[in-house]
Amino acid sequence: MNPKKLAAEKAVEFVQSGMILGLGTGTTAYWAIERIGEMIRNSDLKIRAIATSKRSADQAAALGIPLVSFGEIDQIDLTIDGADEADGKLNLIKGGGGALLREKIVATNSRQMVVVVDGHKLVNCLGKFPLPVEVIPFGWEKVFENLGAMGCEPLLRKNSDSEREVFLTDNGNYIIDCSFGEIADPATLEDKINAITGVADNGLFVGIASKLVVGYESGEVKVLERILK
Ligand code: A5P
Repeated sequence: MNPKKLAAEKAVEFVQSGMILGLGTGTTAYWAIERIGEMIRNSDLKIRAIATSKRSADQAAALGIPLVSFGEIDQIDLTIDGADEADGKLNLIKGGGGALLREKIVATNSRQMVVVVDGHKLVNCLGKFPLPVEVIPFGWEKVFENLGAMGCEPLLRKNSDSEREVFLTDNGNYIIDCSFGEIADPATLEDKINAITGVADNGLFVGIASKLVVGYESGEVKVLERILK
């Protein structure tokens, strides 16, 4: 069984008619968008949505999911998005697909964020996956140096099909992937990185996700809830 599809379809069970949805990006969020499209076609589900990337917006438009902009709504009810790593406190590393900035804007303006992952993404401690940092192209070399001085191994992301072309986000920015190793204090690291001038945001999502839906190849699906202090 496809664990990503299982998790995504379970998360879509939290969708109710009338909601404004945030649509995530990536190979797991893809299945949630497909399922929402199917429900619009085959039932009386009425929702409107904001997409976190051009890719997801194109997919949603092709499925007939009505898209809105922030200017047309007050708040997003529910966002469904993937993650590259998630820990037991529901803190995340995101941005493997390069959409972290729009994803964080959408997630932090949502009443609820439901994260969908396969079992391999669940970790005890974040940091094995290099942390993506979105930076403004002007002066990126200085940000790169600053990130290196914080104790990581930084790498400017290139397009997968051409080692010479720098990867550009939907916002026209660069991504620096930072291998920190185990991240003991994600909240502090998130703030420290964002304090560097030239950083747009980084892929640490701390205290944002409300539910984590984990799919397994066996067909099992677990729903973890964030414990509020
Ligand atoms: C996109 O930038 C990311 O944050 C994705 O949500 C994340 O990389 C998970 O993607 P997959 O579901 O494709 O693993």
